[in-house]
Parts: sequence; structure tokens; C-alpha cells
Amino acid sequence: MEIIIQPEAEAATAVAARLIRRLLLEKPAAVLGLATGGTPLRLYRALVAMKLDWRRVTTFNLDEYAGLPPEHPQSYHRFMWENLFRHVNLAKKNVHLPDGLAKDIPASCAEYERRIRAAGGIDLQVLGLGTDGHIGFNEPTSSLASRTRIKTLTPRTRRDNARYFGGETGVPHHVITMGIGTILEARTCLLLAFGAKKARAVAAAVEGPVTSLHPASMLQMHPEVKVCLDEPAAARLKKADYYRWVYAHKPAWQQF
Ligand code: F6R
Repeated sequence: MEIIIQPEAEAATAVAARLIRRLLLEKPAAVLGLATGGTPLRLYRALVAMKLDWRRVTTFNLDEYAGLPPEHPQSYHRFMWENLFRHVNLAKKNVHLPDGLAKDIPASCAEYERRIRAAGGIDLQVLGLGTDGHIGFNEPTSSLASRTRIKTLTPRTRRDNARYFGGETGVPHHVITMGIGTILEARTCLLLAFGAKKARAVAAAVEGPVTSLHPASMLQMHPEVKVCLDEPAAARLKKADYYRWVYAHKPAWQQF
């Protein structure tokens, strides 16, 4: 894991945006895995401002609430169109999100996995981090081998997301999410976490034991993970000084 600690979320986001820009310049037909929520909002604004060419890019989102139609104000379909897709020249046919209204959920999930494979796999997967350690909506005890499927949100995640639904009662209980196994197949994973609220989850993901009780810790099994943090999110890392030193002394050829 490469841990990149910046004074503020803005600067940490700029590092992440440069990584994605480099990928799209090197590989114009790249396949991006995308996340929703508060964390990647700045990233999407930064990418829009970069005016990159998205014509040949394909996207797959991590997750969607089960039971929400795409036009629902809190659906992740709506989130992505409002915050990124409508601002860039991405082809609609290249956009993929799990179907929250699928009648046959296992078949729809298997089809999502098939489409990822048919696109050549995900080059770079953007990830946020739940306070309980979830990535995608793989809640604690999710299997390392899990694939896209339906999951039940923990009470804690429903509480965390109540702010988007004007209270907890409106938050769906079920979601369709890529699995940990799906996420770990991405060629690069880019985890973003900002704010003191995420500090415990970050420390457990980066320096804790690999355990299904903290799904993000399974990223330790992946060969190419970048973790972009602001100082408050990095506050509980034991080796923070080492990570800062490594980043400040990267050889020129490794910089982005
Ligand atoms: C969203 C997702 C989730 C969020 C996580 C953090 O697509 O996959 O794992 O990244 O719940 O959410 P925020 O960024 O709102 O703190």
C-alpha cells in the first residue's frame, strides 16, 4: 500500500485526480470503477475541471441501493449523473451501475460481473471507506471471495447515511454491491478517506490485521493500492511519519 498524507482533503484529492488523469492519458479506453458518497465529490469536481477526454472510457460503479429507481434523488445512478457523468463526454452506453430494481437479483449481479470481464476488467477502482470498515457496501464479515450480490446494511452504515435521506427511516436496508473479490481484481485500487471520523477505520485498514471484520483491511492483499488521506484521517496511523517521508522522497519516475 502506498499511503499519501496531505494536509487537507483538497490536496489529497488533487493527488488522486492526477493519478486518474495519467491513466486516461496513457489509456484513453480505460475502465474506471467509481464510488459515491461524500468522499469522492471533490474528486469528481477536480476531474471535470481537468477537461479530460472520456469518449472511450467505460465506468462501473461499486453499488446501488436495492429498491431505488435510477431517478430517485438518493439513487447512486442519480448521484453519478449529477456529479460526474453529465459534465464529461462519457458515452451513456459505457456507464454501468448495479440495477437496484432487478427482479432477478442473482442473475443481474452475475450479468454485472460478466460485463466487467467483457470490458477487460477494471483498471482503477475508486473507493471510499465506511466508518465500520466497509468498501463498496461490503459490510463486516463479507467474504474475501465475494462477488457482486445483495447485502444488508449495518445499523451503523444506515445511521451514517441518514444525512442523505433526511433521517434514518428512509435509508434502504439492502444494497447491490460489487464483492471484495470483484474489487481486488481491479488493477489499481485508490482509497480516499478524509476527516477525523475515518481515522479509526483508516488505521485498521492499513495497519490492522487482515480480517473480514474490517473489510478494507483486505486491501492489504492487493499489490497496487494508493491511499489518499488528509491529516485528520491519518491521525491514528502508527507509521505516519514513515509514509510522509516515503512520499516526499519518491524518485522522479515514480511521481504523479
Ligand atoms: C459508496 C460506497 C461506500 C462509501 C462509504 C463512505 O459507493 O461504496 O463504501 O464510499 O460509505 O461514504 P462517505 O464518502 O459518504 O463517507
